[in-house]
Amino acid sequence: MPKTVVTGGAGFIGSHIGEALAKAGHQVVLIDNLDDYYSPDHKRRNVACVLAAPGASFVKADVTDLGAMREIISRDVDYVFHEAAQPGVRFSVKDPFKPNNVNVIGTLNVLQASLEAGVKRVVNASSSSVYGKAEYLPFDEGHPTQPISPYGVSKLAAEHYCRVFHEVYGISVVSLRYFSVYGPRMRPDLAISLFTRKLMNNEVIQVFGDGTQTRDFTHIDDIVKANMKLLTVDKADGKAINVGAGNAISVNDLVRHLGEIIGVKPEVAYIGKQKGETEHTLADCGLGQRLIGFTPDIDIRTGLEAFVRWQRDNLTG
Ligand SMILES: NC(=O)c1ccc[n+]([C@@H]2O[C@H](COP(=O)([O-])OP(=O)(O)OC[C@H]3O[C@@H](n4cnc5c(N)ncnc54)[C@H](O)[C@@H]3O)[C@@H](O)[C@H]2O)c1
Repeated sequence: MPKTVVTGGAGFIGSHIGEALAKAGHQVVLIDNLDDYYSPDHKRRNVACVLAAPGASFVKADVTDLGAMREIISRDVDYVFHEAAQPGVRFSVKDPFKPNNVNVIGTLNVLQASLEAGVKRVVNASSSSVYGKAEYLPFDEGHPTQPISPYGVSKLAAEHYCRVFHEVYGISVVSLRYFSVYGPRMRPDLAISLFTRKLMNNEVIQVFGDGTQTRDFTHIDDIVKANMKLLTVDKADGKAINVGAGNAISVNDLVRHLGEIIGVKPEVAYIGKQKGETEHTLADCGLGQRLIGFTPDIDIRTGLEAFVRWQRDNLTG
């Protein structure tokens, strides 16, 4: 039974990866400090979904603590999925120090501990935010990386550490650049979750800018699928690979879809543009297909319908 550590395992994406690994027969160890960026109770519920599997465990620990990472990522650990981060572009604009500390120093600690423990592979969660303003679309991995937020800078720095740890020390590391992820248990601060809850309560939705900005929204099942590929495909070391749906919609269209699915007429208030937010994202998934055999499955309408069903059953979510 492979032993696999998932950092940020109480979070949205980490808990889904943890669940998939446990179902695939891994002995999963979730690490998380239950940071209060959003409700720790939400995170405890995420952990409970993973702990239902035999052999899964949870350790409350901080990735910025190298000693703790050394203790947990020990010699018997086979794989590390590094999802812990201080997310949120807007948060990083207000406080650039915390994302730097967690996302850069935290990643360095996880890499160092993994190197010392001789793990077979580290998979690092990166972000489409590394690209910044689109010079062309879709973003392929050769697109310039000029982040326009402190968060994007921190994720790019972490990616570079991953590449350099592979090139200099020979450890197997792959970064996956996720594009706007959504699905059950998603972060409550993200647009799809916020809009869904507002529409269900017949409240006004606030949209930044004029709503024509576009996003490649990616369903969590596709994100999990890409991560799981990296257990069996040994190519791609040192690389950063896009993981998106390969289709973008505007925020206005997102609101329209959600209104139709929920069965309400959305009321929208347009407010100022946010600093650090890019206008458009769209993933070219060609490299992922060629290197790791990843192709996205879930189109936005199907994914939103499933999400709304889940949200109805989990109104506290
Ligand atoms: N959700 C998205 O749309 C998206 C898009 C691109 C990239 N990502 C990346 O995916 C990863 C997971 O994101 P998510 O949306 O699941 O966010 P999340 O906030 O739900 O999960 C991150 C987890 O990390 C934990 N954490 C924070 N600081 C920590 C620390 N110092 N030590 C240990 N744990 C700590 C948090 O408590 C949280 O449970 C992150 O690396 C994020 O940057 C997410």
